[in-house]
Amino acid sequence: MAAPTTAALSTDDFWADADRHLIRYAGAGEFTREIITRAAGSFVYTESGREILDFTSGQMSAILGHAHPDIVATVRRQVGELDHLFSGMLSRPVVDLARRLAETLPEPLEKALLLTTGAESNEAAIRMAKLVTGKHEIVSFARSWHGMTQAAASATYSAGRKGYGPAAPGNFAIPVPNSYRPDFTTAAGELDWRRQLDFAFDLIDAQSVGSLAACLVEPILSSGGVIEPPPGYFAALRDKCRERGMLLILDEAQTGLCRTGSWYAFERDGVVPDMLTLSKTLGAGLPLAAVITSAEIEQRAHDRGFLFFTTHVSDPLVAAVGNTVLDVLVRDRLDERAAELGAFLRRGLERIGQRHSVVGDIRGRGLLVGLELVLDRETKQGSDELGALVTRRCLELGLHMNIVQLPGMGGAFRIAPPLTAAEDELTLGLSILDQAIGEVTSG
Ligand SMILES: Cc1ncc(COP(=O)(O)O)c(C=O)c1O
Repeated sequence: MAAPTTAALSTDDFWADADRHLIRYAGAGEFTREIITRAAGSFVYTESGREILDFTSGQMSAILGHAHPDIVATVRRQVGELDHLFSGMLSRPVVDLARRLAETLPEPLEKALLLTTGAESNEAAIRMAKLVTGKHEIVSFARSWHGMTQAAASATYSAGRKGYGPAAPGNFAIPVPNSYRPDFTTAAGELDWRRQLDFAFDLIDAQSVGSLAACLVEPILSSGGVIEPPPGYFAALRDKCRERGMLLILDEAQTGLCRTGSWYAFERDGVVPDMLTLSKTLGAGLPLAAVITSAEIEQRAHDRGFLFFTTHVSDPLVAAVGNTVLDVLVRDRLDERAAELGAFLRRGLERIGQRHSVVGDIRGRGLLVGLELVLDRETKQGSDELGALVTRRCLELGLHMNIVQLPGMGGAFRIAPPLTAAEDELTLGLSILDQAIGEVTSG
């Protein structure tokens, strides 16, 4: 006889089953102790009847909020018509999405490979970069996150490096240009990112065995604490790549598709990458990712027999979702909306910063905002405990926030509501955060 489903079990039984049967995958992190039954718009709803404002857009993916009617309609229609195919077969949603993505991008980015997750897109981009350059060394930021598969994890430095055996040979880290906590400074004490970058590549050149293939970086480091490299940095980084015959791969898993107030974060810098990877935001909650590159690079890869044949490559169901995501972003001008809401959010956070001295820094772009908590504004000393207490109090009060805790940094909240959020939802989130910081610091 089949065992009863969890719906028939008590809350205690649910957690007992979770504890007994789920592999814990979040490192030292724990599951949020709420049973989620549904989500809609900017909120998730719990079995106990609570509604929680979702300031992380799920896992930084649901840019259109949860259960967006257009996405729901597309999934319902497409799953009944054509969901999945033999990977060598093509369908209209796939070719439409590839063409439409190219139309959102500058030349020469025009060829797409449609996949499922962010790690997979970076895996494919690295694999292609190695094949076309004939080299294997990969450079990334020391606070990067590119995913959990082998090549992506080997280029990930913010977490999870220890204990899993050798990373891919030839992976190197360069320091993050962090204006709030500068390491290389000018006489005025500001970040001297040019000197930092020159020094970084001196070290890369010293360590390289002469096989530098690519630089894989996020335009705004999200899991690294929402760090935005200063204007000019990416142009200089591109030049470092060119000088060494390396490809520049930008990972816009979190920043792509309007979140930062423009379609792509790299637009600020006037730098076009050799390859672009998209994931989280492209599927707006569903598993869809892409690698986009030039016809020239694609041709070279094809000539050398490029192979990335997976079960879900070019799947029609999620490609149809991607087309709907593009429809909604264009129709509702969500790039402009993200810029406006981002400015609104920023003003609210600055007011919170004026009231609470533990707010050390507010940064980011559009609707990807970081707020770093410190014990002391002068020394910028961080505290894991402070961040954890504020996060917990926010959740009790009905706001889900994510905090990044990295060595040498105070807890940095990553604030990324859906681009469809209403101003009064942002106001609600701001007032909860204000209350939580006030209560934690006074208690
Ligand atoms: C910038 C970036 N790249 C890649 C990934 C990995 O994506 P996924 O978890 O879908 O494999 C993430 C996930 O957080 C990310 O933030």
